[in-house]
Amino acid sequence: MPHPYVLLSAAVSLDGRLDDTGPERLLLSGPADFDRVDEVRADSDAILVGAGTLRADNPRLLVNSAERRAARVAAGRPAYPLKVTVSGTGDLDPTANFWSTGGEKVVYTSDEGAVTAAEALRGLGVDVVSVGPGLDWRAVLTHLHDVRGVRRLMVEGGGRVHTQLLQQGLADELQLALAPLVVGQPHAPKLFGSGAYPGGPRSRMRLIETRPVGDVVLMRYVPTAPGTGPVPSAADHRWLELACELAAECPPSRTAFSVGAVVVAADGTELARGYSRESDPVSHAEEAALAKIAPGDPRLPGATVYSSLEPCARRASRPAPCARLILDAGVRRVVTAWREPDTFVAAADGNGLLAAAGADVVVLPEHESAAKAPNRHLN
Ligand SMILES: NC(=O)c1ccc[n+]([C@@H]2O[C@H](COP(=O)([O-])OP(=O)(O)OC[C@H]3O[C@@H](n4cnc5c(N)ncnc54)[C@H](OP(=O)(O)O)[C@@H]3O)[C@@H](O)[C@H]2O)c1
Ligand SMILES: [Zn+2]
Repeated sequence: MPHPYVLLSAAVSLDGRLDDTGPERLLLSGPADFDRVDEVRADSDAILVGAGTLRADNPRLLVNSAERRAARVAAGRPAYPLKVTVSGTGDLDPTANFWSTGGEKVVYTSDEGAVTAAEALRGLGVDVVSVGPGLDWRAVLTHLHDVRGVRRLMVEGGGRVHTQLLQQGLADELQLALAPLVVGQPHAPKLFGSGAYPGGPRSRMRLIETRPVGDVVLMRYVPTAPGTGPVPSAADHRWLELACELAAECPPSRTAFSVGAVVVAADGTELARGYSRESDPVSHAEEAALAKIAPGDPRLPGATVYSSLEPCARRASRPAPCARLILDAGVRRVVTAWREPDTFVAAADGNGLLAAAGADVVVLPEHESAAKAPNRHLN
């Protein structure tokens, strides 16, 4: 199910806090950073905050710059991004600033919360959407994508919302503004709460930018840990994109596909990458990547192989097809973009071979056109 690109945004103290325990909201950013946030909002299709933040801060969540709103309208978009909140209970104050400012609003809630929310928000034109008995984040993101057309979602907290999205592998990017102050209160709201995170505490995110903005430092990170089992994570999409990019490196051939592959450990460490015909005229991408990892590497059983094309099930050029090589290496999870067409081998079913051996095979068809791009000449 396609999701929007999910960007978690927060300002955080040096001790990892989002606020202090006082009744007034603690301002962590300065004017330059508020302006940067305004720009990120203007680039987003929707802005989401949890009901806890609505109750604590009574935010407006607007694009404040008239020029940025005008640019959105000139591009055929609404002046303001869609405003989204999530509430299990439906306990929402209809007089809050969130409802009376900006453009369209939607509340995602539970079956039970929907009754309370609909009652409280009656007459305000707010879309109240129940996503089942509990708040299922995947259902929220799928609805935003498919029904509201949201492609880029900015999440502005609070801690409980950020924690769940990161723990469930649903965050594509983190943008943190590190403020030069220490809150120093043990019960002040934390950016991330305790619990299990994908890849565990040794999983390192990829740092993609740091930039001073006034007296805060903007840090941008991309989570790297693969999903677990059949459930894809946002990081799975990023790794599969890389595999599709690697396919473009292949020396062209009229008799074989151009394919890229990446092998990634459970903690998000890249173990190897490869592409077709990288090492010799008949090598396949998965084979080229796996050949770079020592056999018996203890990280292989927990690793994921990303391949732009379904691993081959039969091949003339080598004794073992790639699906077999993957299983023999001990890997039990494969993410791929494109099922193998009948161009060279009829009814190849590498995914079936992998699944029959107990491996999880995840197909992400959103990337199929990127996987096909370096193979257009084979049509
Ligand atoms: N520094 C920053 O950048 C920043 C940004 C935003 C917020 N904050 C701070 O963060 C604090 C608020 O954070 P918070 O963690 O209390 O609140 P929050 O994350 O904004 O919202 C939590 C609420 O969202 C709903 N919710 C979230 N996940 C749910 C689930 N799985 N099932 C059902 N309901 C779910 C629940 O609403 P119901 O209770 O209605 O069911 C829950 O109480 C405030 O102090 C605020 O100032 C700071
Ligand atoms: Zn192969």
